[in-house]
Amino acid sequence: MRERTLTILKPDTVARRNVGAIISRLEQEGFEIIGAKRLQLTEEQAKAFYAVHRERPFYRSLVEFMTSGPVWVMALERDNAVEHLRRVMGATDSAKAEKGTIRAQFGTNIERNAIHGSDSPENARQEVAFFFSAAELV
Ligand code: RTP
Ligand code: MG
Repeated sequence: MRERTLTILKPDTVARRNVGAIISRLEQEGFEIIGAKRLQLTEEQAKAFYAVHRERPFYRSLVEFMTSGPVWVMALERDNAVEHLRRVMGATDSAKAEKGTIRAQFGTNIERNAIHGSDSPENARQEVAFFFSAAELV
């Protein structure tokens, strides 16, 4: 079934000029980009977006990283989008990500891992709504 998910091309991806290569890969994977914007996340936005991790030891560092430079947030659509994006991204730790995945190719380590993807259809709906109004998705 056609489904939406949210991706963020993280600050490491923008700084290393890998935005185009990753977008190209996502299009090859059959995702349609139905909304996109370049943003510099505020501390408040990053904290709210990753609030589920607020008790984790890496939370502060994650918020610092995610606000360290511009990102691209994009709403994507295809069949089974949430699960497919997670598979194409690979494991959280880029050093352990399966060969051929976006994180294996473009990430650096467990934090600077190039890309975010929603982890469930319910979270995908919330995350898309966090960044986009209905009118911005076409
Ligand atoms: P994401 O939410 O960004 O798609 O990543 P994920 O589901 O694969 O991983 P998650 O557990 O949700 O962690 C969110 C982000 O926090 C950073 N992280 N750092 N230092 C660490 O141990 C650590 N663990 C996670 C990563 O940037 C990860 O993507
Ligand atoms: Mg996650």
